[in-house]
Amino acid sequence: MKGKEIRKAFLDYFAEKGHEIVPSSSLVPADDPTLLFTNAGMVQFKRVFLGEEERPYKRAASCQKCMRAGGKHNDLENVGYTARHHTFFEMLGNFSFGDYFKAEAIEYAWEFLTQRLGLPKERLYVTVFREDDEAATLWQKIAGMPAERIVRLGEKDNFWAMGDTGPCGPCSEIIYDQGPEVGCGRPDCGPGCDCDRFLEVWNLVFMQYERDETGALRPLPRPSIDTGMGLERITAVIQGVSSNYDTDLFSGIMAGIAELSGRTYQEGGEITTAFRVIADHLRASIFLIADGVVPSNEGRGYVLRRIIRRAQRFGRLLGLTDPFLFRLVPRVVEEYGDFYPELQRAERAAEKILEIEESRFLETLSRGLEILEEELRKLSEKGERRVPGEVIFRLYDTYGFPQDIVRDVALSRGFELDLEGFERLMAEARARSRESWKGTLSRAPEILKRLSESLAETPFVGYETLSTEAEILALVVEEKEVSEISQGEEALVIFSQTPFYPEGGGQVADQGLVLSRGAKAEVLEVRRFGNLILHRLRVLEGRFCKGQRVKLEVLADRRLSTARHHTATHLLHAALRRVLGEHVRQAGSLVSPDRLRFDFTHFEALSPEEIRSVEELVNARIREDLPVEVRVVSFREAQAMGALALFGEKYGERVRVVRIGDFSLELCGGTHVRHTGELGLFKIVSESSVAAGVRRVEALAGEPALRWVFALEDERRHLGALLSCSPVEIAKQVERLLERVQELEAEVRRLKSGQLRRILEEKLSEAQEISGLKVLCTEVPARDPAELRELGDFFRDKLGSGVVFLYAVNGKKVQLLAMVTKDLAQKIPAGKLLQAVAPVVGGRGGGRPEMAQGGGNRPEAVSQLKEAVLSEIRRLLSG
Ligand code: ALA
Repeated sequence: MKGKEIRKAFLDYFAEKGHEIVPSSSLVPADDPTLLFTNAGMVQFKRVFLGEEERPYKRAASCQKCMRAGGKHNDLENVGYTARHHTFFEMLGNFSFGDYFKAEAIEYAWEFLTQRLGLPKERLYVTVFREDDEAATLWQKIAGMPAERIVRLGEKDNFWAMGDTGPCGPCSEIIYDQGPEVGCGRPDCGPGCDCDRFLEVWNLVFMQYERDETGALRPLPRPSIDTGMGLERITAVIQGVSSNYDTDLFSGIMAGIAELSGRTYQEGGEITTAFRVIADHLRASIFLIADGVVPSNEGRGYVLRRIIRRAQRFGRLLGLTDPFLFRLVPRVVEEYGDFYPELQRAERAAEKILEIEESRFLETLSRGLEILEEELRKLSEKGERRVPGEVIFRLYDTYGFPQDIVRDVALSRGFELDLEGFERLMAEARARSRESWKGTLSRAPEILKRLSESLAETPFVGYETLSTEAEILALVVEEKEVSEISQGEEALVIFSQTPFYPEGGGQVADQGLVLSRGAKAEVLEVRRFGNLILHRLRVLEGRFCKGQRVKLEVLADRRLSTARHHTATHLLHAALRRVLGEHVRQAGSLVSPDRLRFDFTHFEALSPEEIRSVEELVNARIREDLPVEVRVVSFREAQAMGALALFGEKYGERVRVVRIGDFSLELCGGTHVRHTGELGLFKIVSESSVAAGVRRVEALAGEPALRWVFALEDERRHLGALLSCSPVEIAKQVERLLERVQELEAEVRRLKSGQLRRILEEKLSEAQEISGLKVLCTEVPARDPAELRELGDFFRDKLGSGVVFLYAVNGKKVQLLAMVTKDLAQKIPAGKLLQAVAPVVGGRGGGRPEMAQGGGNRPEAVSQLKEAVLSEIRRLLSG
């Protein structure tokens, strides 16, 4: 069976058993601040296990994209050196949400492995959690598993947890015996041994608890099932190969690497390792990029950058020193594009992003080597032979320069490395990067956590209305609950319902007023906190107290202008995809009353024509006055409709879908206008780069767009006034001015050269005769020896026969030149002449008979030069 067929057989089997087949979720977990990447099939069901979310089904199965690099389940450093480890892999899993439990989970797994995949029963073992007698008994009863092939293991092996917090429970693993040939041969080798003989193929987790921040276990509302089986691993077992990398899932990729490098995967040693690292990291990179991750210096983007660089480094072992990963993208898309269509859509973007990132790293590499050389030189000077951890870290952190290259270079020069210091700094940096995605909830004041537990979800009524009555449920001032606030005070306030849109989905929060008889407060900020909507208020007049009924009023103009920009953002997104391609994905967005900012994945600057096309498309939809329809449907329905979902957004089972005619369909919780005509006008005002592979467009809709046009017009009018013409004539007028400038420049040139000629002719008239010999000795305005020579040539040619001696003064320097026409060069050699005269200005010089140059440093003596020249000529003539 091929890898693809095993994937299908699994999903088909569980569909037969009444499971809902749920598509893989993104590698970027939807709004789970505790998790860097989706690392198991259960991640997208976390809230269902915890009882926080209901789904219309009680059992499900999936083939989930997973990434284990960084965070609790981290395999990055092992990849390449083992037969099994991956960063990215696919996990087959079946799930029960309070429906079936241990017995069925065991029964299904057993039936699928032995009946559908045909694995020989006698090669299978199972492990169970130490105390779990129930599971052991069930294995005997259901699978006829002999007691000696049921192994009890402790928490390390048989208790599975999603992370430091979250759902968890005891588990039972099914193990396949690859046979003694592959084993370590130690007498105690058996299931649970680290060697490759007893392979864990399927993990059945009996989800029973939730672990909280303190490590305490709380029972889940209903015992559930979560299972996971690595597709690569089970494929290796079925195909009878000793490594996941030998399966057909990787054969196309390996062939691609071989083709580029001229090496072969089977060579063994570090060559085989390099093939594995490249294959794994390449596959992971493309899947990450397809899920909207781009290389960067923090969080997920940093992991992507690291694996790209690691792959490049291993590429060098194969002689691949130019960017090469990007050339392999089609190999991955070929294997995975059918099942994961997002890969097809992202193919071009992945190529571009990889190519850019790879070229950058090559630059980094050469710059890093320079810096390292410099550091090693300094150390040598000080007589030290140990490279400080701080240097290794700085190279790594600032320049992305890998530690192992530092090691290679340093060791080969007889240096050693302070790796401990480096590791310590790395650990600190890792802690910092975890902080950046951990979210603020865990740091929030206790009082807010308590309120979010005791109060019900705040109903948001702002889609339907901009003003409503509500009761004040809680007032918080400086982390304490209070019963009253009065003029001048600021507080966080929770109402029984609210029309105020809390900041989210890129859209800024509403502002407005809270009113009651004799009291007034302004709403400065609105945010979601768990189930609550928090309002930050400042009391302008009077006082407010807990339990009071008040009137809430959203600033309508501001909200409407924001809604225009939100609808414009959806039109822009759809237009960009049409003009640039389907790889365009939202990477960030800001929707405010005065403008919108939209970041998206694309690999090059937009041309003026592309920008124009986007603007035309959007404005055409505005003129069509399309209805903007909002519907609330199930997430699956939305996906089936083809709605664009955004990463990092939280979607429950019921989602809001915003449709604009047939042009745009997105999941969105924001506020919109009812018809596109309300936008009036749409205008892009800037386009720029945010990071490699991410572009940013800023645009305006409605009144701000009109204001922008007005500002342009004002500027034109101002220009017209400056140019004394009407605005429509500006271009003509500027052309005329440019022509005039050219004319004037030519005139200046003419005048200048005329002037020079006059000066030179004047100088020429200074020539005098000595015994029938023409001699010109004069000062000229030359700035350097070359200019001096040029003038010398000019005078010599004018004289026809004679001696030219020129000097120029520039500051403290005197430059000298002597030229003698050929016919006289014997009698009066220029070199001799110059040599004799130069001392007058405190200098030296010499040269050939026809031309000689020199200089001096006594400009005050130049007046004596002429006399000296003439007397030297007389002396030479008299022989
Ligand atoms: N969630 C379990 C695992 O990842 C099945 O092993």
